Amino acid sequence: MKYSVPKGTKDILPEEIYRWQKAEQVFAEVCGQYGFREIRIPTFEHTELFMRGVGDTTDVVQKEMYTFEDKGGRSISLRPEGTAGVVRSFIEHGMTSLPSPVRVYYNITAFRYENVQKGRFREFHQFGLEAFGAKGPAVDAEVISILTLFFARMGLTQTHLCINSIGCPVCRTEYNRILREYYQPGLAGMCHDCKGRYEKNPLRMLDCKEPHCHTLAADAPKLLDHLCPDCREHFEGLTANLDDLGIPYTIDPGIVRGLDYYTRTVFEFVSDHVGTQGTICGGGRYDGLVEMMGGQSVPGIGFAMGVERFLMEVEAQGVAIERTPDVHLYIAAMSTEAAVFARKLAFSLRKAGVGCETDLMGRSFNAQLKYAGKTGVPYLMVLGDDEIASQKSRIKNMKDGVQTEIDLSNQSGIIATILNSKLHD
Ligand code: HAM
Repeated sequence: MKYSVPKGTKDILPEEIYRWQKAEQVFAEVCGQYGFREIRIPTFEHTELFMRGVGDTTDVVQKEMYTFEDKGGRSISLRPEGTAGVVRSFIEHGMTSLPSPVRVYYNITAFRYENVQKGRFREFHQFGLEAFGAKGPAVDAEVISILTLFFARMGLTQTHLCINSIGCPVCRTEYNRILREYYQPGLAGMCHDCKGRYEKNPLRMLDCKEPHCHTLAADAPKLLDHLCPDCREHFEGLTANLDDLGIPYTIDPGIVRGLDYYTRTVFEFVSDHVGTQGTICGGGRYDGLVEMMGGQSVPGIGFAMGVERFLMEVEAQGVAIERTPDVHLYIAAMSTEAAVFARKLAFSLRKAGVGCETDLMGRSFNAQLKYAGKTGVPYLMVLGDDEIASQKSRIKNMKDGVQTEIDLSNQSGIIATILNSKLHD
């Protein structure tokens, strides 16, 4: 039997991991600069958490969750996103008593049973963050600016920001009435889920993926045209803050997001490159979620970015991610004695922080040189009995062929030759 990965999952291979590591490092760096600290939450939670947090009329909860009963008879779900778990953790650990805003970021896997296509997986990765406690639009703009900075630092230029407001429970009551009025005549022809959503949560009808419902949603009245005065003021505050920071945006009244917890600001960064899945990241404000989940009334805002989609975008835009070598030096040995010397030298250089490799396969000298060439190691040292006797060898820069004489007893000289790559690059 030949095994392969389950549909919608994939291996991230050593050849490509540097791209992931670079993105992780830059995201952590940028979040840190804004005062965000990392949080790690469980991969699975009680199903109820997502039903309440994400919303039981959403596609994510209704159709896409990986839910099972554990051996103790509890209903458990793999997390389809990070916000619900972070909010649970925020409440469970009494973070309301910490100085506000409480700011956390995360790097997680998430699971959704979706139709697999380009940029859409069943197990995927998200970089995300949440900020609790600040209610003014300045934090909305600051959170968005994190993405702008992250993209810029990674070299991405062709992403654009779309923003919208989906109001608060006050404007939504009236808007739901208007929506029902709009949908009423065509309701009989809509999908089973939308018929259910019509009474319970008509806003969800706007992001239904069924073709007929999708077409109807395009002409539906927009919430942006029905905001209450407070929500309108918040939205104007957001655009003013974005203007102040020089962050360009498009107002897109069609953004409703697929999760139930949003209030007021919602936003997405989109691209034209990633096939049908052009949304690289999405987020927004969720001022009622903490309270709804059993905590105090604390406003919140955050986003999550699909890492696979982000990296596809990096590739589509032809952005090169620099690959820094972990192994700097290959020490090739011509004899058994030289091999012993090479292993000892390699160990000592590694202790000093220089990545080294020596032969572990019993290869001939020529085969070692061939191997070193294939690995792309930047420096090569050759050791034979003569070199050991004289304590002199050479380090060859594999890129330009320039050789530098070194003294084998002078470890710091060897290290300087290797690490000071400016000598030859
Ligand atoms: P979301 O829009 O459901 O929001 O997901 C955020 C991002 O995750 C998407 O823009 C996309 O890049 C990526 N993503 C979602 N589903 C898939 C999939 N099946 N395959 C690949 N990538 C995917 C959230 O998850 C919210 N928790 C974001 C948030 C945080 N809002 C406030 N705080």
